Parts: sequence; structure tokens; C-alpha cells
Amino acid sequence: MTNVIVIGTQWGDEGKGKIVDWLSEKADLVVRFQGGHNAGHTLVIDGNVFKLSLLPSGIVRNNTVVLIGNGVVVDPFHLIREIKQLEEKNIKISPENLIISDAAFLILPIHQLVDEIREKNYGSKKIGTTGRGIGPAYEDKIGRRGLRICDFVNKDDFESKIKKLYDFHNIWLSAMSESKQNYEDVIDKLWSLGQKIIPFTRPSWLILDEYKNESSNILFEGAQGTFLDIDHGTYPFVTSSNTVSSQAGIGSGAGPTLMNYTLGITKAYTTRVGSGPFPSEDHGENGIKLGKQGHEFGTVTGRQRRCGWFDTVLVKQAVALSSINGIAFTKLDVLDGFKQIKICVGYTLDGKTINYLPSSTLEQEKIKPIYEVM
Ligand code: IMO
Ligand code: MG
Repeated sequence: MTNVIVIGTQWGDEGKGKIVDWLSEKADLVVRFQGGHNAGHTLVIDGNVFKLSLLPSGIVRNNTVVLIGNGVVVDPFHLIREIKQLEEKNIKISPENLIISDAAFLILPIHQLVDEIREKNYGSKKIGTTGRGIGPAYEDKIGRRGLRICDFVNKDDFESKIKKLYDFHNIWLSAMSESKQNYEDVIDKLWSLGQKIIPFTRPSWLILDEYKNESSNILFEGAQGTFLDIDHGTYPFVTSSNTVSSQAGIGSGAGPTLMNYTLGITKAYTTRVGSGPFPSEDHGENGIKLGKQGHEFGTVTGRQRRCGWFDTVLVKQAVALSSINGIAFTKLDVLDGFKQIKICVGYTLDGKTINYLPSSTLEQEKIKPIYEVM
């Protein structure tokens, strides 16, 4: 039995989808354990392009079962849309090959609205989120007022929980002079989506336990990347979940001894979507060229990605943070047309050399990369 965790070692978009797809041919179970439909995993299979945001990448392969773990936040509208899109491409989806944790939290329409309004109000200080309600949904989870997929089993209970949640958010919305939201406008649609989702649900930990006992190969598919991690990333310019390898257990219901190997996905240069520090960013022609050659446009939002040189300091930090055993190095061919390339091997901060990314945003913005030119 080999259970492998795949995670991004930079700011996402390292090519995780491609590697997970390649590995999923050998996997019995592919598990998502954090994030939601902010991820964008592109797979090309026999010329067919599949763009997945929420469903684990194994779904497009026959004989692979996929599991959305308890650590994922699920937008029911999006889930049903993504299932439909795949069915239109002749992918069969049933409770036989898709299992959704009954303890996963819901992203509701109000979360997306709050995400958008907040970003608008931040102005130039915005995080540059994907606008999909990820942050507000995780906040409600931690705030102990969130709704979970298992709440779709009793309508009265569901209604009283969603009412409380909307009451909570409406206080802030009216203080911001935004229109209050009415849960009654969405409850019937949500409830009917919930009834479609319920047949797919089971406890995530129980599924892992079953597969473990059958000595199956389990593949844990990370989304985003190490420096978007809520604890270890470039806070506050991060996503609202843990993206490092330890989350694979928490977000699915298993302990660390279940995992045998952590594979880091690393791109031969660096990109970032949204705001936040990026020491090796190239604002000149080379950055533009990297973006063009590497097709660096977001899968989810279509935004142009910021581009820069390979940063070994970051990747070494990611290796430590996730106890990475090996690396899959992607998009090296994008560098083909360059006469010379730069590799960041350290930083200077106030004249001193440092070999790690400091925690403070002010320092992260101040550090200067030390390059080796090849
Ligand atoms: P994959 O799985 C790259 C970024 C957003 C933003 C920050 C917070 O395709 O690698 P959020 O909507 O999560 O609250 O946004 O995180 N972000 C990603 N960047 N790849 C991703 O996923 C991302 N998911 C979120 O751009 O800066
Ligand atoms: Mg992506």
C-alpha cells in the first residue's frame, strides 16, 4: 500500500492536476482535503480538456473512486454544475465513484456576496480572492455557525440554522450600507440541491478506514500551494485553509501514519495570482515572456498570473513545512527560449543575508532576491 499526498510548493498553479491525473491511474481512491472550487485543475486526456475545480481529478478515470473530504468547503450550486459538465463529456458520476463527506461545510450564496463586497471595500488593499466565498465559508466553520452537508437531512433544522447564519451576516451587510439578504430566497433551491447531494454522502474517515483495511492506494490531492496556507503562507494574502501536507489527514479523517509519501509539485519558475509579496517577481519583459510561453492565465478566474524566477528559498521552505519526499518539476520547457535564466538562492533583508521567507508582511515586501544567473 502506498498513500501519496500531492501538494503545491509555491502559490498554486504548479501543475498539480496533471501529476495527480498521471498518478490516479494507479490509485484506488483520490481524496480532496481542503479548499473548494477556488482550485483550477486542468487535465488533458486523449485530446479532451477537463477543467476541475471541486471534484478530485481521479473522477475522469474509470475504476477510480473519488472522495471530497470533510476539510473541503462545498458550494452545492457549483457541485451540481461541475457534475453536469462532466456528464456532458460522457463521464459517469454516481455514488459508486463519487463520495462526499457529510461533515464538509457549505458555501452559501451569502458567502460569495460577502467575499465580493469585502474585496470591493478593500480597494487597492484587496487580497485578490477568486470571489467564490471560500474565506467567509471557512470563517463560519471556525465561528461554529456554519452549515454542513449533513444538515440536509432535516428541513426544519436546516431552516433554523440558515436563518441564524443570514441574521449574523445581515448585521454586517446593513452596517456596510449593503442590502440585507433573505434566506427565504435561496432555501428551496438549496434544499432541492441538497436532496440531490445526500445520496453521495458518507463519513470521510470511514471510507479511508475501509480503503486502508483493503491495502488500497490512496492519493491525496492538494489544492492551492504552500505559500497560500493560512498558517504558513504570506498571510493575509493567502487562502483560508491549510494547504500543507499535514492537512491531508485532518481534512479527510486519518492520522499521519496513514501517509507514506509526500510529493511536492514545483514549477520551474514562479507565479502568483492575486495580491501579496512575491520576491522573485519579474516586472519586465522576462515576466511577460514567462506568462506568454507558460500560458499563465487562471483556470478559475481567467486572470493573468504574475510571473517571476524560480525561488529555491521558497521551495526549500515548502519541503520543510510538508516533509516532502520528492518533487515533480513542471514546465521546464517554458524556459527553452531564454538565453539566460535567474534562480533565487537567498534574500537580503536590511543588508543581511537570510535563507528563509520571514513571517512579517512588511519584511516579505522589503526583502531582495539574490540571484544566480545561468
Ligand atoms: P490551484 O489549486 C492559485 C489565491 C487567490 C487569492 C488567494 C485567496 O489551481 O493551484 P480565495 O478565493 O482562496 O480566498 O483566494 O488565493 N488562490 C489560488 N491561486 N491557484 C489556486 O488553486 C488558488 N486558489 C486560490 O488568487 O490570491
Ligand atoms: Mg490553478
